[in-house]
Amino acid sequence: MLKILCVCGARPNFIKIASIMRSLRTANGVDARLVHTGQHYDERMSRLFFDELAIPKPDVDLEVGSGTHASQTAEIMRRFEPVCVEHRPDWVVVVGDVNSTVACALVACKLGVKVAHVEAGLRSFDRTMPEEINRVVTDSISDRLYVTEPSGVENLKNEGIADELVHFTGNVMIDTLLRCRAKADASQVHAQLGIKPKNYAAVTLHRPSNVDNPQAFTAILDAFERIAEDMPVVFPMHPRSRANLVAMGLEGRAAPIDGLKLIEPLGYLDFLKLTADAAVVLTDSGGIQEETTILNVPCLTLRDNTERPVTLTQGTNRLTGNRTEAILTAYHEVRDRPSTRKEAPQLWDGRAAERIVENLTGVHL
Ligand code: UD1
Ligand code: UDP
Repeated sequence: MLKILCVCGARPNFIKIASIMRSLRTANGVDARLVHTGQHYDERMSRLFFDELAIPKPDVDLEVGSGTHASQTAEIMRRFEPVCVEHRPDWVVVVGDVNSTVACALVACKLGVKVAHVEAGLRSFDRTMPEEINRVVTDSISDRLYVTEPSGVENLKNEGIADELVHFTGNVMIDTLLRCRAKADASQVHAQLGIKPKNYAAVTLHRPSNVDNPQAFTAILDAFERIAEDMPVVFPMHPRSRANLVAMGLEGRAAPIDGLKLIEPLGYLDFLKLTADAAVVLTDSGGIQEETTILNVPCLTLRDNTERPVTLTQGTNRLTGNRTEAILTAYHEVRDRPSTRKEAPQLWDGRAAERIVENLTGVHL
C-alpha cells in the first residue's frame, strides 16, 4: 500500500487539495490521509470550504493558528514532525506557497520522506514576498515538482532542478473551478447583496504590500471610492485586511463610501458566482488571477509583479500596482474595452489532479 500524506492549511490550499484528494481516493492501493495545519481556522476561512467542496475531514488537525512567520512556521514543523514519524508516509504532498507548505516540506525532507510540490516553479522574483521565499525553499527540497504553466518549467530549469523531477500537469485550482461552475450558478449572492450581473466590481486584498501599509491601503481605498461612483464595489474582506483596517484607523475612511460593500469572506460557491459575473475584478490574490483567466473576466492585479505570467500573456490579467491613478486608469480602460482571453492556458482543463495522481502513484485512473 502506497502511503500519502497530504497537507493543507490556508484558504487557497483547500481549493487545490480538494481536487487532489478526490483523485487520490479513486486510486486503488493508495492510502491517502489529510493533515490540516490550522493556519487558517475561522469558519469562513476553513470549514466552509471542506463542506462546500466535499473535502474529507482531516485525519489530523495541528491547530497551529496565527503567529509571526517564524513562530507559525516553527509551530507547524514541531507539530507535523511526530505525525510524519507516526504515519511513515512514502510521500508528503504540499500545495501552493504558504507557510504550511514550506514547514511541512522541510519536516518531511529531513525525515527522509519524499516531497511532492503541487504548483511548483512559480516565481515573482520579488523576495520581499513571504510566498516567494516559501516557493524557492520548497522547490529546492522537493523530489517531484508539478507545474501549472510553462514559466514554472523554465524557472526550475534556471535554478538547476533536474528535468526528470519536473512535470507540467496543469492547474488543480482550475479543476475545482470547472467542477463547481454549475453548482455555483445556483448561488443567490447577487440578490443577497442587491447587485446586478456585469454591473459591479469584485475586490479581494490581503497582500502585506497592500494592507499592512496605511499609505498603500489608503491609496487603494481612494481608488475604490472613485470606482464606486460608477458601479458598486463588493469587497469580501480577508481577516488580515479587516484587522488592519481597524488597527490603522481606516474604518472611518472606508465605511462612508457609498457603493463600497465591505462584507465577510465568502464561501467558494458564492465567490465563484460573484467573480464569474463581475464587470471587473480587482485583486492581489494569486489564485484569483488564474480563476478570472478561465472565467474570461477582466482582472486588475494591484501588484507590480506576478508569479503567474501566463495570466498576462494568455489571460485577462493586468498589473496596475497600488497607486490610485494607475488603478483608475486601468479600470477605465477595461470598463470601456474589456479584455478577452484567446484560449485557455495549456492543460487548465479540469484534469490536472488526475495527471498528478497517476504520475505520483503509478495507478491508471
Ligand atoms: C496566508 C499566506 C498567503 C496566502 C493567504 C491566503 C503565508 C505566508 N501567507 O496569508 O500566501 O495568499 O494566506 O488567504 O502563508 N486570520 C484570522 N483568521 C484566520 C486566519 C487568519 O483572523 O482564519 C488573521 C490573523 O490576524 C492572522 C492574519 O489573518 O494573523 C494573517 O494570517 P496568516 O495565515 O498568517 O497570513 P495570510 O495573510 O492569511
Ligand atoms: N475565495 C473565496 N472567498 C473569498 C475570497 C476568495 O472562496 O471571499 C477563493 C478564491 O476563489 C480562490 C481562493 O479563495 O479560489 C484564493 O485564495 P486567496 O486569495 O486567499 O489566496 P492566494 O490565491 O492569494 O494565495
